[in-house]
Amino acid sequence: MSSGPLIVLVGPMGSGKSTVGTLLAERLGVPYRDTDADIVAAEGREISDIFVEDGEPRFRELERAAVRAALAEHTGVLALGGGAVLDDGTRALLAGLPVAYLSMEVEEAVRRVGLGAARPLLAVNPRRRWRELMEARRHLYTEVARVVVATDDRTPDEVADAVLDAL
Ligand code: S3P
Repeated sequence: MSSGPLIVLVGPMGSGKSTVGTLLAERLGVPYRDTDADIVAAEGREISDIFVEDGEPRFRELERAAVRAALAEHTGVLALGGGAVLDDGTRALLAGLPVAYLSMEVEEAVRRVGLGAARPLLAVNPRRRWRELMEARRHLYTEVARVVVATDDRTPDEVADAVLDAL
């Protein structure tokens, strides 16, 4: 009996992890789970409040614990937060799993998520922050990913098709 998630989605904010993850779960007839939502439920606070009140390092610890729990319990489609790959321990948890990286160019990110997003990491100098985030994280997404699916010119349905074809 195999266990663990069927598909794990990683990628930047706005790459479509939740939309594509929900579509994939529907198509496969399995549950969808999202570690951001797990953290909000466990903490009883929004992620932006956790960042402000406790700082990013504490958020990454909570995220690592959420990823560990989800990988142990969940057998459907799992989406991780955009920065989950920054944490060495979280990346180690993903070794050998069917991880799909939904990639996106900076300009597409700005188009989709915008410059005034409610996401805490984009609060100051958002366009420059986007470039920095992408540059700092691209190799980490690639490191954990079994497959990379470019999302820029694809609809969520097309991305879901590509993930299923590739994995
Ligand atoms: C973050 C992405 C967010 C959330 C938090 C930090 C990041 O998740 O975990 O705001 O560091 O990129 P989404 O990618 O689901 O928006």
